[in-house]
Formats: sequence, structure tokens, C-alpha cells
Amino acid sequence: MRVLGIETSCDETGVAIYDSEAGLLGDALYSQIAVHAEYGGVVPELASRDHVRKLLPLVNEVLQQAGMQGSELDAVAYTAGPGLIGALMVGASTGRAMALAWGIPAIGVHHMEGHLLAPMLEEQPPAFPFVALLVSGGHTQLVQVDGIGEYTLLGESLDDAAGEAFDKAAKMIGLNYPGGPEVARLAAQGDQSRFRFPRPMTDRPGLDFSFSGLKTFTLNTANDLRVEGELSDKDRCDIAAAFENAVVDTLAIKCRRALQQTGFKQLIIAGGVSANQRLRDRLEAMVKKERAALFYARPRFCTDNGAMIAYAGCQRLMAGQSSDLSIQCQPRWPMDTLPSIAL
Ligand code: KG4
Ligand code: ZN
Repeated sequence: MRVLGIETSCDETGVAIYDSEAGLLGDALYSQIAVHAEYGGVVPELASRDHVRKLLPLVNEVLQQAGMQGSELDAVAYTAGPGLIGALMVGASTGRAMALAWGIPAIGVHHMEGHLLAPMLEEQPPAFPFVALLVSGGHTQLVQVDGIGEYTLLGESLDDAAGEAFDKAAKMIGLNYPGGPEVARLAAQGDQSRFRFPRPMTDRPGLDFSFSGLKTFTLNTANDLRVEGELSDKDRCDIAAAFENAVVDTLAIKCRRALQQTGFKQLIIAGGVSANQRLRDRLEAMVKKERAALFYARPRFCTDNGAMIAYAGCQRLMAGQSSDLSIQCQPRWPMDTLPSIAL
């Protein structure tokens, strides 16, 4: 089955074609970072308009990569939520309309399920069951995954998501949006031992997270060091290192607990923050001690992309699921309400 995947939930227009036999046949991505950078974050109205501009050219591009006509596709998968409603509606209505024109089924895909399944696109995919750490700009969740659509939420952030915390910390030390990669870049040059930032909620049992205290701590540290409103380059790097270290440690402690609690021996990490090298290194060390294995997607498929939507949609379509002609997007959509594909 060959599925066109469309991702437009936030600030990336992603399109890909996934073939259940041959794997990825085409994959194109347009990032709107430049559009939003001057505002310091995503402006929803601008995001929707930019998706409108880019989506069809990208569809053409991936069809060319795959050497196919649209009419040769078997189905269309589009992100139906969670995300920005205007942005979601662009991908959903375009995807649904193309499927109608080509006389093929379409399916609305859950964005976080897309992230969660992205490591399946790699050469050595994990096998069910596993523990998943989903760390993106909007979500931080630990999930027990027994199969596709068999999700048990083990813990989640009570306030900011990990990616959001990275973005806010970046802003505090004068870095551009999106802050995660920028903080990581500076952190690599920073002195990790200069500051000790808190590891929130690690001193009590449970698998929930909270990053707002860490955010305040970061702000206070930065403010104490400012001279005439400015931070030195060294201070910025050292703060970035301390912040990244604290987030990574916190995530690693909870991941270890989740492995111990479930008895599972496989951990997958997915979502934008899973591209973070220090997180990958820390978790590699942790799973080794737990005699478990770590899985993640290549960096391009950690952040938003069309391939993960094509893949997730394909799995559900092959199980006989599809969405009807009325387009329904859900800006908020708990992942544990998804049906199992075994049903
Ligand atoms: O999954 P994603 O592309 O979009 C959402 O679904 O939210 O995640 C974006 C988030 C942003 O907050 C970004 O700062 C963060 O992922 N991010 C990173 C890195 N790359 C992206 N955070 C830390 N280190 C990175 N290397
Ligand atoms: Zn995402």
C-alpha cells in the first residue's frame, strides 16, 4: 500500500510517500522557522497561510521523487490533531480533497502517534511492547505501548513540555526560536559544573514531570548575571549547559523508573527533543545499566515531518481504518482515546 502523508500541525509543512513494501519513496519538508523567528514563536495565522502556499508544491515534489502520479497512490494520511486548528485544517482539507479526487481512502492521523512510530522507519525498529518518551514542543509524556493504539499514559508534564522549556530558556538567554537546537549548540561549549539546576519532581515517586520551576531558576540565574542587561557569551553557554543537563537528567531518571515499573526492555524516544544528542547519550548509558535498548529516529524524523504521518496512517489503513468525508480536526486529542488496530 502506498500512502501520501501530510503534516501541517504547526510550523513545518511535511509531505512523504510511504510504501508498506518498499519503505519511503519520497519525503519533502518546508520549515517556516524564518517566517516566525522575528516574532519569537509560532504565529498561528501566518502558519496556516504558509501551509497553503507550500503544501501542493511539496506534494508535486514527492510524487516526482517517487516517480508516481497521484492517481497511483492507495490512500492519503493527514495530521488531524493535536495542533493549531487553522494549520491542521490546511493539511486535512487538502489531503481529503485530493483523496476524493483520486477515489482513494483518507485517514486523519494523531500527530503524537506519528512521532511515536517514527523510530519504526529506521533499519532496526523496536518491537512491541515498549516504553515511549514523547518529548516535543507541546507534549512530554511517558507511554506504555503494547501495540498501535494500545497506549497507557504512565506520566506527563504538569506544566510546560520539555521542548517548550527549551524554547523559553533559549529566549531568556537571548537565543532565537526554536530554542532547543540553539541551547544544545551553546551547551556543548558550556561548563556543566558551574551551576547546579534543579531536577524537578525526581525526589518523589511517580512518572510525572514539571518544568516551570526549572524555568524560573534559569531566569533568576540569568538575571543575576546580567551586566547592563547583557549576558556574556560564557554565561550563556554555561547556563545552556546547566539547563540542558537538568532536563536530560530529569527525563533519564523518569525513563529508568518507567522501564523498571513496566519490566520492559525497550525504550523509544520521539518528538523534537529526542534529536538532542546529550539526551541520547545519557539514555544510552542508562539503558545499558538496565540491560535494555534505546531506539530513536534520525534527527529529520524526530521533529515534525510527513514520513511519520504516512507511516502511522499506512498502519491504520492496512488494518481497515479510514476517516469519512467530513473533515474533523482536533486541536486537543488525548492519544489514549485512539482505537487499537487489533480491534
Ligand atoms: O516535535 P516537534 O518538531 O514539534 C512539536 O510537535 O511540538 O518539536 C519541536 C520542539 C521545539 O520545542 C524544539 O526546540 C525542540 O523540539 N527541539 C530540541 C532539539 N531539536 C528540536 N530540543 C532540544 N534539543 C534539540 N536538539
Ligand atoms: Zn511534533
